[in-house]
Amino acid sequence: MMAMDPVRSRRHFLRFLAASPLLAHGALAQSPPADPVVWAPRDMTRLIADPGQALDVFDFEPVMHNTVPPAHFGYMATGIDDEVTLRANRAGFQNFQLLPRRLIDVSKIDMRTDILGTTYDSPIFVCPTASNKAYHPDGELAVAHAAKSGNHLEMLSTVATTSIEDAIAARGGPVWYQLYPTSKWEVGLAMAQRAERAGSPAIVITVDGLAAQNWETLARLRRIDTRPCGDCHGRALKDYLARKPNFDGIDLTGTSFNATGFTWDSVRRLRDIVKTKIVLKGILAREDAKLAAENGIDAIILSNHGGRNDDNGRSTIDALPEILDAAGGMPVLIDSGFRRGTDIVKALALGATAVGIGRPYLWGLGAFGQPGVERVLEILRRETTAVMRQVGAPTIKHLVPAMVRRA
Ligand SMILES: Cc1cc2nc3c(=O)[nH]c(=O)nc-3n(C[C@H](O)[C@H](O)[C@H](O)COP(=O)(O)O)c2cc1C
Repeated sequence: MMAMDPVRSRRHFLRFLAASPLLAHGALAQSPPADPVVWAPRDMTRLIADPGQALDVFDFEPVMHNTVPPAHFGYMATGIDDEVTLRANRAGFQNFQLLPRRLIDVSKIDMRTDILGTTYDSPIFVCPTASNKAYHPDGELAVAHAAKSGNHLEMLSTVATTSIEDAIAARGGPVWYQLYPTSKWEVGLAMAQRAERAGSPAIVITVDGLAAQNWETLARLRRIDTRPCGDCHGRALKDYLARKPNFDGIDLTGTSFNATGFTWDSVRRLRDIVKTKIVLKGILAREDAKLAAENGIDAIILSNHGGRNDDNGRSTIDALPEILDAAGGMPVLIDSGFRRGTDIVKALALGATAVGIGRPYLWGLGAFGQPGVERVLEILRRETTAVMRQVGAPTIKHLVPAMVRRA
């Protein structure tokens, strides 16, 4: 956030040049570098001081890195094991190219999107993420206000630090409730029914969070956090639950958070009791997409949990065509690794109904609170609008598979 003085800045640049392979090979002297980033590298000593300065969503992450404790940052950033899936989520977009169409009237771009019967201003939705107050005291309320200001679909996590009732009030409209069903049927059912009573139109059952994960980035960053975690988090389950209001009033005796026994039978049982829409989050195989359609599920979210739950190595954009094929017309929403308008447009053109964002809005939240989340969402809307104009699609329905080619 500190501005660098010119002398220091020059020294920094010369040091950078000296370390550059371009100089080592004498290339700079002979021909200009091919990659303009050489002239404008992201400078970690010159971070944005307010959300309006951000050029893209990535500008928020280093600010958040400075504002939140290392352990909390690690919880946000971590993938699992070797984080192959985490990286694949970003690399996957390069396997698809956009084929722009020309001479189409794109003077007005309309991103309005219908998602399970409700029209939102854009196809960009806010993914459920745990414990938002770990990044900013306003937590999920800041996120809900930002979702409201951009009219985005929002999903609230089971393990949010805000209740579903308060999130709906702050959003000023329905919020989908993400359900971790836990090991005990009655606990999952009680939470789903509470969300239904609160006015959630859809229960999103996350089906990929089976057991504790090997989050090494989190473990390493926790080691450099000088504050003992227990001083804030407490040491007993009751301390943890005190910050998770969606469990309020539910008897958790004998319950574990692992849902390893939750099956298609459980899904059918829940579908037959609650009247909300049922959405499955974390579907990755075409066989499961087909089963979801056969079981009358309202929509699926093609998600690998942002590379946090299994290191299968496959990006969700890579899986999208075959999942759409197996879903047979059931809406397919997608998340994991989306950071740019081009990423979003590729998924929509292939046939996704909507695209979810996880970490980027947490970067905005940790960096600046609600204005940061608002700006992250606004940047993504702006980039998506620009790409739609560029490919010749005045509305979402004009985004078609012929506009994308596998590289
Ligand atoms: C810090 C963090 C916490 C998350 N907590 C939840 C959660 O409670 N429930 C859930 O279904 N998904 C959770 N997710 C996964 C997101 O809903 C989403 O699938 C993922 O973040 C998308 O990938 P991205 O972060 O690359 O955008 C979490 C993700 C992060 C980064």
